[in-house]
Amino acid sequence: MSYRNSDFSYGKVAIFFHWFSAILVVGLFISGLWMVSLNYYSSWYQIAPFYHKSFGLLLTALILLRLFWRAFDKAPKPVGTSIEILASKLVHFALYALLLVIFFSGYLIATGDGRPVSAFGVIQIPSLINYKGIEIVAGNIHFYAAWALAGLVFLHAAAALKHHFFNKDQVLKRMLGTSPR
Ligand code: HEM
Ligand code: HEM
Repeated sequence: MSYRNSDFSYGKVAIFFHWFSAILVVGLFISGLWMVSLNYYSSWYQIAPFYHKSFGLLLTALILLRLFWRAFDKAPKPVGTSIEILASKLVHFALYALLLVIFFSGYLIATGDGRPVSAFGVIQIPSLINYKGIEIVAGNIHFYAAWALAGLVFLHAAAALKHHFFNKDQVLKRMLGTSPR
C-alpha cells in the first residue's frame, strides 16, 4: 500500500490519520461527559481534565496536520449516487468544521481565566483571549458541538457500514486499507 491516496483507495497516511483521530474523538467524548460528573472528592477530579485537555490538544495538532496533508493528497474518487456523494461531502466537511469549533471552544474554556493550558505538562499554550464569562459561553458551545459531532459520527459510521454490508462496495475497505488499489 502506498503512503498517498490513489483514485480508488486511501493511502497509509490518510488511514493512520483517520483511525487515530477516530479513537481520540470517541475517547474525548466519553471522558468529557464522565469528568464533568465527578465531584471534588474524586481522585480523578484534577487528573481527568488534565488528560482530556492534553489529548484534546494532541487531536487538534493531528487534525491540523491532517488538513494540511489533505491539501496535497487528493481524496479518492467518491462512490455512490449523486445524492450519496453530496451527503458524504457535506458530512465530512461538517465533521472537520465541528472538530475545529470544539478545539477552539475547549481552548477558551481552559484559558478563559488567563491561565495557559498544558499538553501533558510538556507544552504550554498561552491564554490569548480572556474576559469575564467567556468560559461559560465557550462551555455551552463545546457541549452542543460535542453532541452534534457524536450524532454526525453515528450517521457517518452507519453510512460506512451500509456501504459495506448492503451495497457490498469498497468504501469501508478502502479506509481500512484492504481494498485493491
Ligand atoms: C474532539 C475533541 C473533544 C471532544 C469530543 C470533547 C468533548 C467534551 C465533552 C462531551 C465535555 C463535557 C461537556 C459538558 O457536559 O458540559 C467536555 C468538557 C470539557 N472539555 Fe472537551 N472535548 C474535546 C476537546 C477538548 C479540548 C481540545 C479542550 C481544551 C484544550 C477541551 C477542554 C474541555 C474542558 C475544560 C471541559 C470541562 C468543561 C466544564 O467544566 O464545563 N476539550 N469536552
Ligand atoms: C469517530 C470519529 C470519526 C471521525 C471524526 C471521522 C471522520 C472522517 C472524515 C473527516 C472523513 C473524510 C476523509 C477525507 O477524505 O478527508 C472520513 C472518511 C471515512 N470514514 Fe470516518 N470518521 C470517524 C469514524 C468512522 C467510523 C467509526 C467508521 C466506520 C465504521 C468510519 C468510516 C469512514 C470511511 C469508510 C471513510 C471513507 C469514505 C469515502 O471513501 O468516501 N469513520 N471519516
